Amino acid sequence: MTKTVSPSNLARAGSLDELYSLLRPLSVGAGWNKPTPSLWDEPRKTFVPFRWRYDEAKAALDAAGRLINTELAERRNLILFNPVPGNDYATTRTLLAAYQMILPQEKARSHRHTPNALRLILDAEEGAYTIVNGVKLPMRPGDVLLTPNWHWHGHGNESPVPAYWIDFLDTPLIHALEPMFFEPHPQVYEPVAEVATESTMRFAWTDTVARLESAPQTPDTPYAIQIALGDRAMATISLYMLLLKAGIETMPHRTTANNIYAVARGTGISVIDGESFAWSRGDVIAVPAWRHHSHCAGENAILLRVSDEPVLRKLELFRQRTD
Ligand SMILES: [Fe+2]
Repeated sequence: MTKTVSPSNLARAGSLDELYSLLRPLSVGAGWNKPTPSLWDEPRKTFVPFRWRYDEAKAALDAAGRLINTELAERRNLILFNPVPGNDYATTRTLLAAYQMILPQEKARSHRHTPNALRLILDAEEGAYTIVNGVKLPMRPGDVLLTPNWHWHGHGNESPVPAYWIDFLDTPLIHALEPMFFEPHPQVYEPVAEVATESTMRFAWTDTVARLESAPQTPDTPYAIQIALGDRAMATISLYMLLLKAGIETMPHRTTANNIYAVARGTGISVIDGESFAWSRGDVIAVPAWRHHSHCAGENAILLRVSDEPVLRKLELFRQRTD
């Protein structure tokens, strides 16, 4: 409820403490008396670097497969929350990563939402699919599938084995900006209007590998040998595939963008602000904004880089340094 204080009382305040106590009920704070500054000299490192292992996630998903079905869970997924106090959701400030599994003959209901989403397929056999706006697309290991803002999407598995993947969403950004909308599909499972393998919503693994092999060979740059998936894959998220040559360290750098790396192939180590994180296929590595980092593959490796770069660039806040 709005309160009022007599202007004459305010004008007569005899001390700063008296002024502060008169201002508080008006929901006014004295800028010179703020306990914490509003401006600082460079980005604060609120979120921490972290690595999540696929072998652990896969075992947990297998347990979840026994314990909960897709009738009860809209999605059977494991959220990779950054281990900082007060956070139980975001992987980095603006992005979320989650492992997901769907059992043989299961279907995950169709829905749409304003957050942009994508997935990197880890293990799936022929018969695992996603339906995006009525188009049924295969999900094969190494594929990346997009479900941008307000696109209907659901998943299914007609293969004899479980399908595993990693989801990435910009939900933390949408939570901060607040334009969240979500709608379940009126038919629960969206009907298939078309079956396709080629789509702007699907980046097939075979194409990725071929493109990386013919890309400019610059393995010691900040992002190694890199190709973009899509010309800005989605409004808030850019996607790149990186080919790391065994034994060659990428150039250490830091950026105001948040990056999440997922290992599509190979093994290696990322050094983030001096801390080493070993990884292998299926692992996820969070590199929050303004963290120095470099990678070095033990054997030729391919990483998916998921970044909020488009947001920073659009707002003219993108910076990158190699010092
Ligand atoms: Fe979704």
